Amino acid sequence: MTGQTSSRAEIPVLSVRDLEVAFPTPDGDVQAVRSVGWDVYEGEVLAIAGESGSGKSVSVMAAMGLLPATAQVSGSIAYRGRDVLAMSDKDLERLRGSSISMVFQDPMTSLNPVMAVGAQIAEGVRIHQRVNSRTARSKAVELLDLVGIPNPGQRVDSYPHELSGGMRQRAMIAMAIANDPDLLIADEPTTALDVTIQAQVIDVLERAREATGSALVIITHDLGVVARIAHRILVMYAGRAAETGMADGVFERPSHPYTAGLLGSIPRLDAPKGTRLIPIDGAPPSMLAPPPGCAFAPRCPRATPLCSQEIPELRPIGNQQSACHHGEDQYNEDEDV
Ligand SMILES: Nc1ncnc2c1ncn2[C@@H]1O[C@H](COP(=O)(O)OP(=O)(O)O)[C@@H](O)[C@H]1O
Ligand SMILES: [Mg+2]
Repeated sequence: MTGQTSSRAEIPVLSVRDLEVAFPTPDGDVQAVRSVGWDVYEGEVLAIAGESGSGKSVSVMAAMGLLPATAQVSGSIAYRGRDVLAMSDKDLERLRGSSISMVFQDPMTSLNPVMAVGAQIAEGVRIHQRVNSRTARSKAVELLDLVGIPNPGQRVDSYPHELSGGMRQRAMIAMAIANDPDLLIADEPTTALDVTIQAQVIDVLERAREATGSALVIITHDLGVVARIAHRILVMYAGRAAETGMADGVFERPSHPYTAGLLGSIPRLDAPKGTRLIPIDGAPPSMLAPPPGCAFAPRCPRATPLCSQEIPELRPIGNQQSACHHGEDQYNEDEDV
């Protein structure tokens, strides 16, 4: 995602370059992330998409300083120009406490089951602002209202198990923005939810981003979920960037066959119930021993012998950047559509 500057700010909120993450295991190194880069600017929504195991979560965990100590990390991660990889544990804690917030797939992993949601949100408010407990509580009610929880004045005293999955995820988002973060990272925030609730939670995230003016990085395996709100897209496959570019371009004319495959497997709200999606044939490779050349080649309808020999570099194709030897062919296929 190089060469694109936003009109809003010169320095990205977060800038990742040449990120490599490996996990040593008894069977060898798991090469989870291989030379990935992206930027996200103030007020911008970046979607990181790809199938399970493509390195999406590991890339953002690296940015938060949340990888296990065994992880081997190289490259650079800059938060507003400051090197995250060189930060002390204390600085990282402060960064996570006030500047970067995360929303996870399962809100129960982040919500305290024995504490009312309002009290948890109020705690977040008080970390950031010097206010008394009553003000913090009314701020919690405001936040619950903002994320669309009905009767927030009563719900503020509910425990997580008293809320539905969708309502819990809303509460989690309220908690994530309580300290007015600069950057909100949502890792598959809707994966555990029904399709109709998914769309609502995405709208809530967008509202939360607007209310805080933060940047939003949203991770998904389903490009359809983020279509309405993403400004930029990074498609990952087997730990690498497959394609990156502005969302409109990626959706209209993908320049990587993997992106085209992902777009073809988007579940549609208007499809009759029980309609089979068109999945991409095959499965992603093992990250212990990724195939030589393009990791997608074994599943790719456009693959030629070159693809299994030479790793394609990320390069400009159309309005995007793609790591595909046949990216032009893919890009031109959709020209008249
Ligand atoms: N702590 C770990 N130890 C070993 N391998 C890991 C660890 N965390 C993640 N991985 C591996 O790294 C790869 C990328 O994982 P991840 O980023 O979680 O994928 P996803 O795109 O689904 O979020 C996967 O092959 C996963 O098994
Ligand atoms: Mg993940």
